[in-house]
Amino acid sequence: MIDQITIARIQDAAQIVDVVSDFVTLRKRGVNFVGLCPFHDDRTPSFYVSPSKNICKCFACGEGGSPVHFIMKYEQLSYYEALKYLARKYNIEVVEKELTDEEKAAQNDRDSMFILNEYARDYFVKTLHEHPEGKAIGLTYFRERGFRDDIIQKFQLGYSLEQRDAFSTEAQKAGYKRDYLLKTGLSAGGENGSPLIDRFRGRVIFPVHTLSGKVVAFGGRILKKVENTGKYVNSPESEIYSKSNELYGIYFAKNAIVKQDKCFLVEGYTDVISMHQAGIENVVASSGTALTHGQIRMIHRFTENITVLYDGDAAGIKAALRGIDLLLEDGMNVKVLLLPDGEDPDSFARKQNAESFQTYISEHETDFIRFKTQLLLREVGDDPIKRAGLISNIVQSISVIPDAIKRSVYIQECAHQLEVSEKVLIGAVNKIRIANYDKRKEASEKNRQTDISEAIAPAIEENTIATSPAKNPYDRFEREIIRYIIRYATTPLFVRYKLEKRKIGREIAEEKVPIEIGPSVIDFVKYDFERDHIAFTHPLYRQIFEEVCEHSADEDFDSTRYFSVHPNPQIGRLAADLLSDKYHLSKIHAKSIGEEIDSEDSRLAEKNDLENLVPRATTELKYAYVLEKIKDLKKTMQSADSDELVMLITQLQELQTIKKELSKLLGERIVLKY
Ligand code: CTP
Ligand code: MN
Repeated sequence: MIDQITIARIQDAAQIVDVVSDFVTLRKRGVNFVGLCPFHDDRTPSFYVSPSKNICKCFACGEGGSPVHFIMKYEQLSYYEALKYLARKYNIEVVEKELTDEEKAAQNDRDSMFILNEYARDYFVKTLHEHPEGKAIGLTYFRERGFRDDIIQKFQLGYSLEQRDAFSTEAQKAGYKRDYLLKTGLSAGGENGSPLIDRFRGRVIFPVHTLSGKVVAFGGRILKKVENTGKYVNSPESEIYSKSNELYGIYFAKNAIVKQDKCFLVEGYTDVISMHQAGIENVVASSGTALTHGQIRMIHRFTENITVLYDGDAAGIKAALRGIDLLLEDGMNVKVLLLPDGEDPDSFARKQNAESFQTYISEHETDFIRFKTQLLLREVGDDPIKRAGLISNIVQSISVIPDAIKRSVYIQECAHQLEVSEKVLIGAVNKIRIANYDKRKEASEKNRQTDISEAIAPAIEENTIATSPAKNPYDRFEREIIRYIIRYATTPLFVRYKLEKRKIGREIAEEKVPIEIGPSVIDFVKYDFERDHIAFTHPLYRQIFEEVCEHSADEDFDSTRYFSVHPNPQIGRLAADLLSDKYHLSKIHAKSIGEEIDSEDSRLAEKNDLENLVPRATTELKYAYVLEKIKDLKKTMQSADSDELVMLITQLQELQTIKKELSKLLGERIVLKY
């Protein structure tokens, strides 16, 4: 326990910018700072830090709070642990009752596993430096590899004795429980009370650290060639260790990554260590597996720039091409550095000093898209079919880059290198982007806190289609969506342009070049409805929606004309109503401008704002569903018995959360009242 006075001192000392910037790269914006949110998959900086209020907050996911809250969340610590963390950071002495080893171990599983891992690390380090076998075999091995003593110490390298139970026995003698020895994977076996066996016996040890320096796992390298055993044995996945979420070396690299605003990515433990020894500290390893999204996020918090180092042989080049789209997709600037044939970062670094290594890097580092283009160009030669394949391959890579400006720079350059027109490439990239729109959208929707579909889908079924439009509470919202569909079915929600200077004779003219095209109105509505399992309740609207879905891909499909002359007179009349100017004068625009506006202007304003108007219209419909559902639920609650009531209250709370979320989406301008 920590006394109140100390708590207050810690809270006074902890500066939010200082605390957060240990983990997130912050940039100044006005009086605040912003960065990529570490708590959700953030691609545009949504995480705000206010020095004056001493709090942080993510405007996308809502996480945040005081320095203590930030540390609790970020480091997965309890309130007291977070306070102690900050006390250490600010050199504030905390007087508290010493816990015994037993009590510590009892705190909780995760803590106990970390504590055991730290004990194991210390044991392996001690064995390497002090035990005759450790010195003769382990330490000699590292030295023969050329690792300096300060580097061996920095990375806390160790050695596990050949005797099959040396560590397990020692650890149990020191009071560590079998249970945790097995859970961390430090020991194996032990079925029916048989003795435990050391997982890493006879290997040199590479501890794996979390971002904040806790030991989360180990890698053990074998020294002698033994049949049927892998070169490395690693800790198994556990409550504390998920291989795909850790990056070897990140703890030792994070400061250098921020300082250099760049991160090197290599494959293995020894590559990281040798590069450090050569003076390059902004380096992490994916540990021999393909990079995962979680690992990229961790790097992205510190920098946008990543250079992937690979062997210069064919396998290395292949590896360089693999998985890089994932980095591009995350908005990283990716470069590739090929090492001379036969070298890996470890062997190469050992032959260099910091300076010559840096020189080599700056001379050989290539932008990834350029690298890929040149490489494939060389491969295909003049074969036209292969060339087409190559173009589509590169277009694929470019299309995943989220930033439109960056994409357009690459398009320009590739057009030049591949000798195809820029327009063709833009078209091809946009085609892929539109096709992938759903996928991207889906990924970003995964962060949505509640599942709207679960809660509102039943509302639709209950509301029978037969209800007359006048009584149907959804009619006005459905009608609004149908209006957009009839007027703009195949119009994209948005088109983004860049301005390009063109020389015409002596004049320089600026020309708008489209660089990104959004999904069409019908594609968006279709996707949005499917995602939340909603459908139009009005049979005419349903029919219209279905017919547009069916025809929207037809060449020259003009929904306005199509419905104006529709064989069903009811639909024709509805279309005429919705197309008439009196109806279409958008309430939002009329209101925001505050006066009568010319209908030609308002039509244009509407067409230019589909990106906001259409999603708003579907959200308003969902909001209506939720309100209706809440009303029904409250009615049911009046006649429910106490058991049912418990269930209904939970449902009600869920709906209230969804309601809040939707009204947040709709902004403060929401005027819907029931
Ligand atoms: N790796 C692993 N298990 C294996 C082989 C490799 O976990 N059986 C991981 C390790 O993290 C290793 C990385 O993949 O560091 C790269 O493998 P490799 O290049 O074979 O190892 P190096 O680190 O280069 O080791 P060394 O130079 O000692 O051979
Ligand atoms: Mn190696």
